[in-house]
Amino acid sequence: MAKKPKLLSNLFHDTLKDVYFAENKIFKTLPKMAKAAQSKDLKAAFIKHERETRGQIKRLQGVFKILGKKPQAKTCEAIMGITKEGAEIMTDFKGMPALDAGLVAAAQAVEHYEMSRYGTLRTWAEELGMPDAAALLEATLKEEKATDSALTMLAKSVVNIEAEAAINNPNMRGDHPHMSLSQG
Ligand SMILES: [Fe+2]
Ligand SMILES: [Fe+2]
Repeated sequence: MAKKPKLLSNLFHDTLKDVYFAENKIFKTLPKMAKAAQSKDLKAAFIKHERETRGQIKRLQGVFKILGKKPQAKTCEAIMGITKEGAEIMTDFKGMPALDAGLVAAAQAVEHYEMSRYGTLRTWAEELGMPDAAALLEATLKEEKATDSALTMLAKSVVNIEAEAAINNPNMRGDHPHMSLSQG
């Protein structure tokens, strides 16, 4: 018997499950990152994005509804890997001046992953003739992009925190060439 052809609609549904898994994982990770962050502004940014992520999960549930499917998550190995790296930074740089820079970098890796997923899903939703789904995905894509930009700004201020720490701790002087934290 011939295999049933897999169509773009199948791929869309599969990818939706992937990003649904990812958002739920991120929703659990953001409070940990907020707790770990040393800068008040960075903490606030993570808390703000946790709130946005709750709304993004609701939007994905809306897209499942448009498809006539139940919300379902499928393990996303990419987000597992990205968040694992973030967890390593939290452990390895705990209490260190470079911690926040590492947290920003980890968070931007997450945002870039999300931006690629939402851009793809939005385009597929348009091609599949689901403008309402496309609008929901576009709304989230905008939030992810705004978060990424905010993190790029914060990347600069956390470098300043490290510079101040260096002034207070002469041992740190000289061994921290300025690095670029973000290509965002
Ligand atoms: Fe998100
Ligand atoms: Fe995000």
